[in-house]
Amino acid sequence: MAAQQAENDYFANEPPPRDLPANTTLARAFIGRHAAGGRRVVLVTSGGTTVPLETQTVRYIDNFSAGTRGATSAEYFLAHGYAVVFLHRQFSLLPYSRHYSHNTRSFLDYMREERGRVVVDAQHQAEMLRVLREYAAAKRDDRLLILSYVTITEYLWNLREVAKLMRPLGPSAIFYLAAAVSDFFVPQDRMVEHKIQSNEEFLALGRAPSAKPPAARTEGKSLIIDLEPVPKFLKQLVDGWAPDAMIVSFKLETDPALLVKKAQYALNKYAHHLVIGNLLHTRKWEVVFVSELDGEKWIRVPRSRRTKSFSGVQSLVGSADHAAKMDSFEADES
Ligand code: PMT
Repeated sequence: MAAQQAENDYFANEPPPRDLPANTTLARAFIGRHAAGGRRVVLVTSGGTTVPLETQTVRYIDNFSAGTRGATSAEYFLAHGYAVVFLHRQFSLLPYSRHYSHNTRSFLDYMREERGRVVVDAQHQAEMLRVLREYAAAKRDDRLLILSYVTITEYLWNLREVAKLMRPLGPSAIFYLAAAVSDFFVPQDRMVEHKIQSNEEFLALGRAPSAKPPAARTEGKSLIIDLEPVPKFLKQLVDGWAPDAMIVSFKLETDPALLVKKAQYALNKYAHHLVIGNLLHTRKWEVVFVSELDGEKWIRVPRSRRTKSFSGVQSLVGSADHAAKMDSFEADES
């Protein structure tokens, strides 16, 4: 009841993003088409959410995530025949193109000119051909729908709408929540309209006429930010939005002593299927699966391969014998 009230309050107070109707239309058609064809559908969330401090946003708080986990995992789901709704932070990594973006070398470094034409360097041919073929197959079958968000509120509106559209799929729907979601935010009715001023002479001008004190404001020379908790919508997802789906959440921690405890706590509290725990500094080569079925299971990329990026939870995707395969887990070059 309290969770339902928190949901009602949140969505009544935080306006939906402008592109929500367009996203919903696309998602409805995509999910309906694949469900009719008997294909399994997964929602992969990826990247960090922001918390704007001003309505006309100049300053915001961000959650760490490049989108590597989500983008890479989406590729594995696609390779295993799933249709993927990829709900990602705008400009974070995308499936397939991630191999050639966001790193220190430009994508142009993979190419050269040959007799007035652009060609891919010989050393990159095989890998690029593999990626291109996988991308082309996903595109040909129209199995990848890319939606984006920036703020926590945009993320939550999209998550709720897509979850409701996936509800009729029952247990053949998967939610794979790799996005790094803000725990605190500035409610709309406590947000200033304009850029917060640091110069005391201009302070009053930036303030919104509101009964409540602004959540982010300058006092003297200090910036005071007084955030409120974001309701834990995992509870609503599991109990209300998609009660029959398989739900996989991620847990990010920095303190090794807390990781498994917090993952177990989340599993008990939300009663979903799987929590995948990872630590900030080791997330590229080790994760821990915490589930009711298997308890605690660590998956590690062998030390000899750790120069490459750990980039996906391959065995989660469409494979019953995933535990056995994990021991021979292949690190992916990215
Ligand atoms: O993108 P990369 O750079 O590869 O990094 C990947 C990653 C480290 C971001 C990813 O593997 C990861 O751990 N993502 C989850 C980070 C996170 O939000 O953890 P959390 O402990 O704050 O939340 C745990 C779960 O609760 C999440 O699944 C989230 O969907 C849910 N949540 C969080 C906040 C909130 N207000 N409501 C929620 O339901």
